[in-house]
Amino acid sequence: MKKHGEKITMVTAYDYPSAKICDEAGADVLLVGDSLGMVVQGHENTLPVTVDEIVYHTTMVSRAKPKALVVADMPFLSYQTNPADAVKNAGRMIKEGGAQAVKIEGGREFLNTVGALTDASIAVMGHVGLTPQSVHRFGGFRVQGKTREARRRLVEDAALLERAGCFSIVLEGMPFELAGEITSSLTIPTIGIGAGPQCDGQVLVFHDLLGIDDKPSPKFVKRYASLRETMIEAVAAFRREVRSGVFPDIDHSYSSSEARSPRERSDGD
Ligand code: KIV
Repeated sequence: MKKHGEKITMVTAYDYPSAKICDEAGADVLLVGDSLGMVVQGHENTLPVTVDEIVYHTTMVSRAKPKALVVADMPFLSYQTNPADAVKNAGRMIKEGGAQAVKIEGGREFLNTVGALTDASIAVMGHVGLTPQSVHRFGGFRVQGKTREARRRLVEDAALLERAGCFSIVLEGMPFELAGEITSSLTIPTIGIGAGPQCDGQVLVFHDLLGIDDKPSPKFVKRYASLRETMIEAVAAFRREVRSGVFPDIDHSYSSSEARSPRERSDGD
């Protein structure tokens, strides 16, 4: 797609219905992101997420049999310890979870790990810039690449990851000029989040783009819907109808002459 100048769309998906929705909408890549720690589990950051949890969520996403590429995020300390741990844990995401690739955060310090994974025939997506697993080292979720030295290191890191065998790199939380420079210096595609329009593709978190969260969004998030309000209104309508006795009416009830089992749908599915 990069060669043809076609932009790549990546969306996070954490379960069967979100995978179905994103795939039907034509997303190219489904990322089972460790952001699930924040948007699904309610943690303050992604650090508590475990390998078992990513495998579990990846299994649900793969079960949707999406046309899109399924990438599983390697959680904190599942690959930082040593390359052998990385291969073992990534292997679980592929074998048990059904992912087609994994993503790891970090630059030059993980080149051996990228090499070990690709030697084991595991496709690796890199991730540089505001890498959320380093939130404490950064002193918060802060835009990276603000000094000349930091910019130089990020350009080098991206080049080293490409050389080490990554098939794509996420650029997160950096000035758009820097993301543009990195993108034009690589042959593999970059996928941006908070990195401006010059990346080869873009990724957003499912709950952010659909407006499901109640937290204020960072500047880079664009909400394409306000599903939180819609969902609250639907549940509140259900509650009103239950309390007033409007639901269930006869149309949503079985008569003694109907043979269908209770979970069968009216269309016979
Ligand atoms: O975990 C995640 O969702 C991510 C994306 C934001 C790139 O890593």
